[in-house]
Amino acid sequence: MIIDMQQLLTRYPSGRVALGGVNLSVSQGEFLFLIGESGAGKSTLLAMLYGALAPASGSLQVFGIDMNAAPARKISALRRRCGIIFQDHRLLFRRTVFENIALPLRVQGYPEDRMVARVGKVLEFVGLEDAIWSYPDTLSGGEQQRVAIARAMAPQPQLILADEPTGNLDRETADQVLHYLIQLQQHGSTVIIATHDLQLLEQYPARVVELHAGVVVNDSADEASHGH
Ligand SMILES: Nc1ncnc2c1ncn2[C@@H]1O[C@H](COP(=O)(O)OP(=O)(O)O)[C@@H](O)[C@H]1O
Ligand SMILES: [Mg+2]
Repeated sequence: MIIDMQQLLTRYPSGRVALGGVNLSVSQGEFLFLIGESGAGKSTLLAMLYGALAPASGSLQVFGIDMNAAPARKISALRRRCGIIFQDHRLLFRRTVFENIALPLRVQGYPEDRMVARVGKVLEFVGLEDAIWSYPDTLSGGEQQRVAIARAMAPQPQLILADEPTGNLDRETADQVLHYLIQLQQHGSTVIIATHDLQLLEQYPARVVELHAGVVVNDSADEASHGH
């Protein structure tokens, strides 16, 4: 089990309860859509998985790390095993595409003499090898999101967390972005996509977990095991 969440409850400093007792187990290599209305707790749940927010109560293990007790050094190590993709991609606009993708690799100590080759390879995966020396603002929104995918996958993370990755994209580009995320799963990553784009779900028969007001109200994995 790569993620094991039991009765997880969390609050924001404001006191607002964002997750109110969530149970969720995810195995290595799974592909999971996390759905639910705006404010349901999807982004909060993802933030818990990469240690940006601590549990108030309940237990959470990610890669076997107990998130209730993990020191900062362990949280940093955990983050290096996650590729995180946001709706607004968060690329650095004053850096080239190459620099954007090289940054997380350098954090990992990736050898500088192989950097151009590695960055070129992940850009080739998303069909943007020609953009390596471009600045992000010369690219379209869809291309920028593909660079963000290349950046997230470059360190070969075990876990890909995508928060509304297609939120700003047209239908065709959104489906293309999903296609890349599916391929990452096929290469062995566990992929979790938080989305309110229900059309995405029709493109790929994956596990669907639905949150409502901070609790899981539906998990297709349960239905499957209970034969409904
Ligand atoms: N930084 C924050 N401070 C206080 N409350 C927050 C913060 N971020 C989210 N919330 C609240 O937590 C709940 C869950 O939000 P969120 O996880 O962002 O939902 P979703 O991603 O499904 O739209 C909402 O009620 C939201 O208002
Ligand atoms: Mg959100």
